[in-house]
Amino acid sequence: MQLRWWPRSISLQLLAGVVALELLSLGLFAWVMVRQQHQEIINRVEQRLAHQANIAAFEADEALDDRRPDLVGLSVDIMAKSPSVAESLVTDTDGRILFAANNTADRPVAQELSELERMQMHRVHGDEPIVFSAGPNEWESVAAIHHRDRLWGYAWVHSDRVWDNQQLELMLHSAVVFGIIWIAASIVLVLVMARSITRPLGVLHEGTQALMRAPETPGSFPLPILVHNEIGDLIEAFNRMVASIEEQRAGLSDTLSLLDSMLANAPIGFAFFDRQARFVRVNRIFAEMTSSSISRLLGRTLDEVLPQQPASLLQATIAQVFAEDRPMRDIELSGEGSAWNWTWIANAYPIRTLQQQVRWVGVIVLDATDRKRSEEALRKTEKLAATGRLAASIAHEINNPLEAITNLLYLLSNHAQLQEPALGWVQMAEHEVKRVAEITQQTLRFYRQSTLAARARLSDLLDSVLSLHQVRLQHRGIHVEKQYDAGMDLYCFAGEIRQVFANLVGNAIDSMPEGGRLLVRARHATDLQNPERQGVRFTVADTGCGIAPEARKHIFEAFFTTKEVTGTGLGLWVSSEIVAKHEGTIRVRSRQRQPSDPAASSGTVFVLFVPDLDPARLFPAALTPESETA
Ligand SMILES: Nc1ncnc2c1ncn2[C@@H]1O[C@H](COP(=O)(O)OP(=O)(O)OP(=O)(O)O)[C@@H](O)[C@H]1O
Ligand SMILES: [Mg+2]
Repeated sequence: MQLRWWPRSISLQLLAGVVALELLSLGLFAWVMVRQQHQEIINRVEQRLAHQANIAAFEADEALDDRRPDLVGLSVDIMAKSPSVAESLVTDTDGRILFAANNTADRPVAQELSELERMQMHRVHGDEPIVFSAGPNEWESVAAIHHRDRLWGYAWVHSDRVWDNQQLELMLHSAVVFGIIWIAASIVLVLVMARSITRPLGVLHEGTQALMRAPETPGSFPLPILVHNEIGDLIEAFNRMVASIEEQRAGLSDTLSLLDSMLANAPIGFAFFDRQARFVRVNRIFAEMTSSSISRLLGRTLDEVLPQQPASLLQATIAQVFAEDRPMRDIELSGEGSAWNWTWIANAYPIRTLQQQVRWVGVIVLDATDRKRSEEALRKTEKLAATGRLAASIAHEINNPLEAITNLLYLLSNHAQLQEPALGWVQMAEHEVKRVAEITQQTLRFYRQSTLAARARLSDLLDSVLSLHQVRLQHRGIHVEKQYDAGMDLYCFAGEIRQVFANLVGNAIDSMPEGGRLLVRARHATDLQNPERQGVRFTVADTGCGIAPEARKHIFEAFFTTKEVTGTGLGLWVSSEIVAKHEGTIRVRSRQRQPSDPAASSGTVFVLFVPDLDPARLFPAALTPESETA
């Protein structure tokens, strides 16, 4: 229970306690002392009165011995003058007053003895005086006066009450003065002691207040240890506790910033959901994957962010993790994006509280779109390769009967009996069979890519590419301009270089649906960056639609295509890889016709430099005579 009047500060509490205790003990002490002293005074008064009565009786006896009864009156007067005596009497044996004197003018001298005094008088035997109380605080003594062994009279002495009270008051006064000095000394002592307690406590108090006001900046720590007692130990322990909390806080903030940076920079999407499948935390990658921002996602539910199908699948997964408290792995989510369809792989796991309750569900999302597309492309490539192999084997099988047909047609055309128009038909058949033979040759040659680099005749290589696209070129009315010499050759992987040109020519044809011009050029040249390097510079230029500037940055990336259905976006990527393998370079320049200027020209130019890395040319001395003859 809190007393309202009880002070709050420790010094005042100590002070109040000590003063109250001392007042109590002083009061008790004074009471006990006054009681004791009172008794003591009474005893002393009794002894004194007995003694004074004896003296009075003795002096009266002396005066009678000297036959001077008048001196008895004098000794009575002298006795009455003593400070502790109020009245002195001498009576005869019947109690009649012979001499009387008192020390105060306020009271008349007694004329006769009281009843009580007469009673007491008869109790006196021998020389032994009697002391008795004559009223509250009034004491009296009587002693017998014997003269020549005969009772002559009685000597009476009355005690002076004022004088005795003065004695008591004097004592009380000294007790009070002593008490005041004692209390003052105790207050000083208490204040000194309290200061040694309250000062360090004050430091501790202020330190904790400062810590509560600004827990992040414990500037006043460590607190000074002003005393070496239990409070000093307490402050030291407090300092150590704050330091350890600070250390833990630093560790925690390190861990948090580590987690934060991991969350922010990990190349995978992280998101945390509550029971309503609302985002409670999400990283930048996840926001980018949903084409949103972190602030827009927080607090929203999945169906506000994702398309309906993946949203409900992920929501069901999150609900299951909450219900079953176990992770769910490799959930495939897919949706339609602006550029292409996306595929995500999601893993959901429970995040528990200290009490092991599932508080949130964390979802890690991997964008598997590229992987999915690579798998698709691989499948397509494999299909193409298989088709190529099939085409090559068919072409191979067709070759033999074709040769027989060619020979037979030759024999037929030289047959003497053959007349016109049959001869003309045979010649037409011969022409068409020759075309079939050419197509099968091309197919075979295109498939049989060399696995070893060798000198390749460039005119054959480029011709084969153009004739492969012959039908589409003619169909679109594209005029082809060939600028290469028949005798040019280059040390390369011919099949791969052929693939590069097949891609470039294919792209050029795609860009000219309404027809146009296609230039294919090859020239001996030196590398512009390194004039020491000899090689061939190829140019493939078209007057097609051109490439938009923002697309130009991406055309060499895998899967970048603007041909939504027909393109895989691998052509230029593969081509650039092949050119890089040959240590060459590929560059592009392009211009698009602006809608504001429909008369302007547009088109694209690819320029390739492929160095001639023929070891026979580069290192002629290194070749052995055997390899030369071989
Ligand atoms: N000559 C060109 N004229 C205009 N655009 C071109 C030309 N060459 C390439 N491009 C652009 O570059 C993109 C990428 O070309 P790339 O050859 O890599 O893939 P693709 O032709 O789309 O598909 P595929 O894998 O079937 O070749 C094309 O989609 C097209 O937009
Ligand atoms: Mg292409």
